[in-house]
Amino acid sequence: MSKKVLVTGGTGYIGSHTIIDLWENGFEPISVDNGCNSDVSVLQQVEILTGKKTIHYNIDLCNKTESEKIFIDHADIQGIIHFAALKAVGESTEIPLVYYQNNLISLMNMLELASTYKVKAFIFSSSCTVYGEGQKSPINEEADLIPASSPYGSTKQFSEQIIKDFCPTTDMKAVLLRYFNPAGAHPSGLLGESPKNIALNLVPVITETAIGKRKVMTVFGNDYDTRDGTCIRDYIHVCDLAHAHTLSLEYILEQRQPDPVDVFNLGIGEGLTVLEIIKAFEKVSGQKLNYILGDRRPGDIKAIFADNTKAKEVLSWKPNYLVDEIMKTAWIWEQNRSQLPL
Ligand code: NAD
Ligand code: WQD
Repeated sequence: MSKKVLVTGGTGYIGSHTIIDLWENGFEPISVDNGCNSDVSVLQQVEILTGKKTIHYNIDLCNKTESEKIFIDHADIQGIIHFAALKAVGESTEIPLVYYQNNLISLMNMLELASTYKVKAFIFSSSCTVYGEGQKSPINEEADLIPASSPYGSTKQFSEQIIKDFCPTTDMKAVLLRYFNPAGAHPSGLLGESPKNIALNLVPVITETAIGKRKVMTVFGNDYDTRDGTCIRDYIHVCDLAHAHTLSLEYILEQRQPDPVDVFNLGIGEGLTVLEIIKAFEKVSGQKLNYILGDRRPGDIKAIFADNTKAKEVLSWKPNYLVDEIMKTAWIWEQNRSQLPL
């Protein structure tokens, strides 16, 4: 049987780490990305790390005719891992239609092509953002989804629904993976997050501040009702996240998934505050971080972390990296990346 897997958003942060994990587990990943938030040069790093050349297509997945060329070239694709999306929460409130068009049309094109070309497995990048505000953590997959607070979050909720509606009408099965807060970099120091757009997430903001790309960083609010007043999140290492995609693919392709669509939380199952993350960074880097305590960021929720029991039991997944390794790999990557063509 062919081991071909199409990875959309393949040159992006999580996509590129997943391509490595797929090669390491006997799959043959094919990448597609339009380069709107990444550079194809990351595949050179992937080649150094795996010894494998990944076939890549530079295509906008909103263009169905162009996208079909991939399936014409490779009629035996077994699975699609669909990472491609725009992901900046704040930006999505300013240009919502761009988010709805990009994230939903690309998804529907992929689903239609997957069905036409008899793809067996579809893995979708969802997000803990689908749970919305005010739910109790640890949160499990059974929790009701409250209407999302941003167009980005809505695209993830709508995407999940589209997949749930479509898959039962086909022979394809799907897994929805709800990521909590992905962070860190490949332990080699050769691959990490290198977006074209400005990084807004906590961990890259910390490392960019420490290396001097930013003068100072702001902790958004220290008056929350938490153990130190700052928000609590569940930070998961990108390599642990990547491996969960390979396991999900195997779960479907080995015909262990009973239902047309299944859903899994991916987090380490523990919440850490912003100040605890900063302390972990200072410990592993030996550097004092220049930060100030500032106002709350609108839209932030106080605390959310995963109940990851289902992913552990059903997929036999387990996180191998904890916070110190997350911060250490992120810091090594920040120091290395200025010397790489990324
Ligand atoms: P990323 O921006 O690094 O990767 C996404 C890739 O998709 C980019 O390389 C971009 O160029 C590409 N892309 C976007 N629209 C495209 C289109 N129309 N056609 C082709 N390529 C397109 O982001 P990431 O952090 O790797 O996230 C991957 C997925 O995981 C996204 O769906 C994101 O919403 C989801 N997610 C990310 C996080 C996070 O914090 N990083 C958390 C939860 C969910
Ligand atoms: C983490 C914590 C901030 C930056 C977002 C999306 C979510 C998902 C993951 C895609 C918060 C604090 C941050 C800074 C800070 N993405 N912070 N100063 O908001 O939990 O989740 O990324 O699906 O949908 O909303 O992640 O990394 O932005 O913030 O104090 O300069 O760090 O307030 O408490 P968030 P984040």
